[in-house]
Amino acid sequence: MKYDFDEIIERRNSLAFKYDYRKEYFGNEDVIPMWVADMDFRTPDFIMKAIRKRAEHEILGYTLRPDSFYQSIISWYKTRQDWEISKEWISFSPGIVAALSMAVRAYTSEGDKVIVQPPVYHPFFSVIKDNNRQVLYNQLIEEEGNYRMDLEGLKKKLDPTVKLLLLSHPHNPAGRAWTKQELADLADICLENGITIISDEIHSDLVFRPQRHVPISTLSKEISDITVTCVAPSKSFNLAGLASSVVVLPNEKLRKDFNHELATGHFYMGNIFGSIALESAYSEGHEWLDQLMDYLKGNLDLLSGFITSELPRIRLSPVEATYLAWLDMRSLGLKSKELRKFMTEKARIGCNDGPSFGPGGEGFQRLNFACPRPILQKALEQLKDAFREIN
Ligand SMILES: Cc1ncc(COP(=O)(O)O)c(C=O)c1O
Repeated sequence: MKYDFDEIIERRNSLAFKYDYRKEYFGNEDVIPMWVADMDFRTPDFIMKAIRKRAEHEILGYTLRPDSFYQSIISWYKTRQDWEISKEWISFSPGIVAALSMAVRAYTSEGDKVIVQPPVYHPFFSVIKDNNRQVLYNQLIEEEGNYRMDLEGLKKKLDPTVKLLLLSHPHNPAGRAWTKQELADLADICLENGITIISDEIHSDLVFRPQRHVPISTLSKEISDITVTCVAPSKSFNLAGLASSVVVLPNEKLRKDFNHELATGHFYMGNIFGSIALESAYSEGHEWLDQLMDYLKGNLDLLSGFITSELPRIRLSPVEATYLAWLDMRSLGLKSKELRKFMTEKARIGCNDGPSFGPGGEGFQRLNFACPRPILQKALEQLKDAFREIN
C-alpha cells in the first residue's frame, strides 16, 4: 500500500470536534472518540499540496470556481458511478446539511410534511423542524439486523401535504447501499404522489464490494427530473472542515428554486480552499480512495470478527457502505442513559447514542471505525473487558 493508514496522528488540541469536545459531550476526556463522522487518517498528500500551493499566493480574496472544478466533478461521477452529469446541473452548498435545509425551504411551505426514514442521521429532523415543517417518520423495517424501507407503510401515510423525501443513500446509520430495485420502488411512490426526492449521497464513495452505489438520479429521466442529489468529497477524503459540497439539479425548475435559496442566503461564494480541495480530490483521488476502501474493509473485518467471537451479545448490522457501524446492544437490557454510561464509563468509548437517530434507535450505538487499526483493536478490547464486568 502506498498510503499509510496505520499512522496514529495526534488530533487533541487541534480544535477537532471529535476530540476536543469530548469533555463537554461525554463528561470524560478519556473515551476513545468513535462518534463524529470524520476519519483519523491524514487528508491525502496531493490535496494538502494543492492547498499549500494556493496558500503561497498570499492574497485570499473572492474567487471563481473554474471550468476545471466542474469537469473534475463530471469526470469523477462518470468514472466511479457511471453517472452523466451536465455542467449546468451543478450547484454549490457550504456543506450538505445546509443544502438539505435550503431544499426544505425551496420545495415546501410551512406546515408541509417531509418524509424521513429513521433511524437516520439526526440533522434530517432538525432541517425540517427548524424550518417549521413537519417530520413524517417512515421507520425502516429491521429484521435480525437487516434493514429495508417500509414502502407499504409509506403509502398509507401519504396525504397532499407530503411534498418532500429526504433519502440517506447509502444510509447512515443502517449501512445500506440501497439497490436499484429498492430505489425504483421508492421513486415510483414519489412520482405518483408529486413528491420531490432529496438524495443525500455524501457516503456514496464509501461502498464496499460487491455492492455498488446506484445514484437514484440514474434510474430514469422521469426520476432524475424529481430528484436533487447532494454529494461531496468531505467524507471520503476527510475534508468536512472545508464545508464544500455539490448539489446536482437536472430539473430546471428545481434548480432555479434551489439557486434562489442559495442566493437569498448569500451562500454561493464558498471558500477558496474548499474548491481547491474538492477539485484535487476528484481529479487525483482514485488510487487513494481505493486504498482507503481496502483499509476500511480490513477494519470492518476486524470489527465483525471480534463481535462474532468475543462480543456475541452485540449484533452488527451488515455494513454495505460508510465507515459507521450500527451496533444493536438491546440484549443488554439497558435504558439509553445506562447504555451511554456503560460505553463511556466502563468501556471508555465515545459512540453516538442510538436514540439521537430517531425512532428505532433505542438500544443501539453507532461506532465510527475510520481510525488506525491498533486504535480499533484497543477499543474492542476495552469493550470486551467492560462486558466481562457485567457478565
Ligand atoms: C448522511 C449525512 N449527510 C450529511 C452529513 C454532513 O454533511 P456536511 O458536513 O457537509 O453538512 C453527514 C455527516 O456525517 C452524513 O452522515
